[in-house]
Amino acid sequence: MKLFDVYPLFDIEPVKAIGSRILDSNGTQYMDFYGGHAVISIGHSHPEYIKAITNQLNKIAFYSNSVIISLQQELADKLGQLSGYPDYSLFLCNSGAEANENALKLASFTNKRSKVIAFKQAFHGRTSGAVACTDNPSIIAPFNANHKVEFIERFDINAARLSIEKGDVSAVIIEGIQGVGGIYVPEPDFLVELEAICKQNGTFLILDEIQSGYGRSGKFFAHQYSSVRPDIITVAKGMGNGFPIGGVLISPVFESWYGMLGTTFGGNHLACAAAKAVLDVIEEENLVENAAIVGKYLADRSKNLKGLKETRGIGLMIGLEFEFDITQLRKDLLFQHKIFTGYSGKNTLRLLPPLSINKNDVDTLITALEAILNQTKSA
Ligand SMILES: Cc1ncc(COP(=O)(O)O)c(C=O)c1O
Repeated sequence: MKLFDVYPLFDIEPVKAIGSRILDSNGTQYMDFYGGHAVISIGHSHPEYIKAITNQLNKIAFYSNSVIISLQQELADKLGQLSGYPDYSLFLCNSGAEANENALKLASFTNKRSKVIAFKQAFHGRTSGAVACTDNPSIIAPFNANHKVEFIERFDINAARLSIEKGDVSAVIIEGIQGVGGIYVPEPDFLVELEAICKQNGTFLILDEIQSGYGRSGKFFAHQYSSVRPDIITVAKGMGNGFPIGGVLISPVFESWYGMLGTTFGGNHLACAAAKAVLDVIEEENLVENAAIVGKYLADRSKNLKGLKETRGIGLMIGLEFEFDITQLRKDLLFQHKIFTGYSGKNTLRLLPPLSINKNDVDTLITALEAILNQTKSA
């Protein structure tokens, strides 16, 4: 059987990884400034993470959600404490899209409405409701196209108000920092106003922190640069440092009933052990603070790069927009300088390294960028 061919691949096979370094099958070492799409939070193969998963594997890996799994509550307690949402409830699932799907469903079950507002260039995942809220027609199949979703210009509060005031909007879904769309940070005032309009009109505010959460922004959640307390917050990516897990943080206004939401694998023993180890390490190693400090250093150091149009983002979620197509620049970083990075659109380099990187790693990246940009080829 061959693999269904949906991913364009680099001709590199990672076989081992430690911290922010990846080794490929030829023994070549790479620096990871992408974290496999923002997934690696505490660093690859962290010893505490390995220990927690191995210990759990030696006890029990899985049983269904029909029995007590105390690790779920331990994880919820730790997440509540570190995120500043101890009064919220946690629903555990397996991926970001699934977290958003459940968030949309929860909102709709509760206010009995079906329309959703999302923002232009948003990405919320590829399952039915999540992809309908994603502003990319090329990944929306006809089957997904019949949800009632209105896309509003990014951060346009007046357009959002006009629509929400019609009184039929179940939820507004917005990324803590728009990631795939190019690293755009909403202004705190915009979020505060959006929250107020939602509240006045019985609309729920869903903050998708799947990419921007778990310390990446230099706060536990990116929206915590503002004073908003969303009704629902979705998480995944950095939550498991590579172990598939997602979650929905649910405000106390929501009531549950048996069967309302569910999943076979969500909240399994192994995933909870992994996710709990991630939070322990984030706390012990002050990784949220590290993301803020090293991220600021990275943003500052990027400012004089040749051909740079704009640096966007906060913490270790940084977009460097250049005046030219960065396809070759990314290839040069990877193949000449052995550094993984990502992209948004044609011109923006997307940097989402493990939260444990240091200023020396940033210096290595900047030196590589300068070396490439000062040759005329890429710029
Ligand atoms: C903001 C955001 N939401 C949702 C998702 C979907 O997550 P997953 O790929 O785990 O389904 C992503 C993935 O890139 C994302 O960046």
